[in-house]
Amino acid sequence: MRRRMAGRAVQALGSGAPRIMGFLLPPSSQKTVGLRSALEIGVTARFRSTSSISSYSELARERSKTVTSFYNQSAIDASAEKPSVRLTPSTLLYAGKSPDGSHILSSAKYLHKELPVRIAHRIKGFRSLPFIIGCNPTILQVHELYIRAYHVLSDFPAIKDQDTEARYSKLVQQLLDDHKDVVTMLAEGFRECRKHIQNEALIRNFLDTTLTSRLGIRMLATHHLSLHEENPEYVGIICRRLSPKKIIEKWVDFARRLCEHQYGNSPQVRINGHVAARFPFIPLPLDYILPELLKNAMRATMESHLDTPYNIPDVVVTIANNDTDFVIRIADRGGGIPHSIMDKVMDYHFSTAEQSTQDPRMSNLFNTMTNSGPQSGPMHGFGFGLPTSRAYAEYLGGSLALQSMQGIGTDVYLRLRHIDGKGESFRV
Ligand SMILES: Nc1ncnc2c1ncn2[C@@H]1O[C@H](COP(=O)(O)OP(=O)(O)OP(=O)(O)O)[C@@H](O)[C@H]1O
Ligand SMILES: [Mg+2]
Repeated sequence: MRRRMAGRAVQALGSGAPRIMGFLLPPSSQKTVGLRSALEIGVTARFRSTSSISSYSELARERSKTVTSFYNQSAIDASAEKPSVRLTPSTLLYAGKSPDGSHILSSAKYLHKELPVRIAHRIKGFRSLPFIIGCNPTILQVHELYIRAYHVLSDFPAIKDQDTEARYSKLVQQLLDDHKDVVTMLAEGFRECRKHIQNEALIRNFLDTTLTSRLGIRMLATHHLSLHEENPEYVGIICRRLSPKKIIEKWVDFARRLCEHQYGNSPQVRINGHVAARFPFIPLPLDYILPELLKNAMRATMESHLDTPYNIPDVVVTIANNDTDFVIRIADRGGGIPHSIMDKVMDYHFSTAEQSTQDPRMSNLFNTMTNSGPQSGPMHGFGFGLPTSRAYAEYLGGSLALQSMQGIGTDVYLRLRHIDGKGESFRV
């Protein structure tokens, strides 16, 4: 829901299950015999009500066609063995301008080589999931999206001139759109099969890796596409003089609108510290992390003041800038995080959303202000906000830490490294 509110609307995906069958089932694999029949039964039951032998054979023919046209295990395996080439933001920055436009061509050539490798790594991750998780229809849909992306990208001809580059950029844009709901889909899929999972670390590792790798891919792809745009303040996705205060203000407005919609009021937000700071940075990850942290702070504030919704404490955001990194602290007086759940709040799918809806004072608000069911209020949803934000911050060489004063409120510290090339940087 958060992603929908952030403009990334949930996309209705066509059912790809029969084709997934082809992707997942190498005819030669001994090990997959059991998997194959289980999936066949599942898919047949789900998507066709076949009662005659002819429709079975039709299905088998269709499947074998899709096996031939989509399934290419050896190519994906070979790509998955190659290392990915990660770039520093300074490389992106300095390779991102040339008067004759040749930087666009070299950027496309880099992507043309790099994207299939990164996507193959992810497909390997899906293939390594335990059977019961890998079979989940929503997770299968994402798996299939990656396989499709692998094929269209690796089948694309070598990029030699502006014309092929333009077609390649169009394809990349199309894939970005096709994949925009992957986080929501993974959240849904893993929630559905959570009861079968004993090993919490397995989900965490898979989601951390898949989500941060996705962030990296989207940053590179968006960087390439933005190189076409003439904007003196930007080089691709890098803002030359990013103002943390401005980007915080943008997401404060967004979160307050959601909050008012849901609770009828929202806390004021004061921003202090290094409010005049400006430095080169990539806004894209902040565009994900800031709304999540602000929504959490506002929700806690509102829900701890349900009896006095028109007299609520401010949220205070402090910016601290230094040579190595910058820190954004979001401090709320929303009652803090209870001791009993403190070490769970960073787990994927941990959320107290359901408890909120059981509070009689809340149910009125939820029922009248959301029309999509009590658990899908836009201020909270899957329990993905904190773990995803932390994974993104760490991927960028930074950190996300919580300090809670139980009974009073919570301070969240987002720390991110500078990308000006002076200190050691992360790689995208
Ligand atoms: N500032 C805060 N004050 C009090 N509790 C918090 C705060 N931030 C997070 N929490 C607790 O941690 C839980 C997990 O937060 P997280 O952002 O990961 O998920 P969510 O907000 O429930 O759902 P989502 O972010 O996916 O929409 C929340 O449900 C809430 O109980
Ligand atoms: Mg949240």
